[in-house]
Amino acid sequence: RRILVLNGPNLNLLGTREPGIYGSETLEDVRVLCENTAAAAGFDVEFLQSNHEGVLIDAIHAARGNVAGIVFNPGAYTHTSIALADAIAGVELPVIEVHISNVHKREAFRHHSYISPVAASIIVGAGVNGYALGVQQLIHLGTRG
Ligand code: DQA
Repeated sequence: RRILVLNGPNLNLLGTREPGIYGSETLEDVRVLCENTAAAAGFDVEFLQSNHEGVLIDAIHAARGNVAGIVFNPGAYTHTSIALADAIAGVELPVIEVHISNVHKREAFRHHSYISPVAASIIVGAGVNGYALGVQQLIHLGTRG
């Protein structure tokens, strides 16, 4: 059993990027957190970050049939990308939208998400622990019943 953890633009800079907003943990720390959280329930993690919208779309397409779901922090594409929303709608996989910061107490342009209407769940403002919560939610969906 597998979970895809997908990260959009600028998240490769995590740890050094605006640490007052995003904290000091790195994307590598996030990968380890996701792997440990998933391993506890016998799940593997595929972990990918890209600064390119098309690469993220390709990864969503490739996930179809191969993973239980996707934990996705789309970065700023959250607020701009109809193409990513269409990709998610097209593959019919549960997607947990994660934002490290509480986007709702930030600039107005961060309040709207093209991803939220196609997300199964949304985790906002929990810091990098939001990724662990997302992984746990996918495990919950995959093992219930
Ligand atoms: C973010 C919030 C977005 O508004 C921003 O563009 C990011 C990161 C977050 O994790 O809080 O790149 O998705």
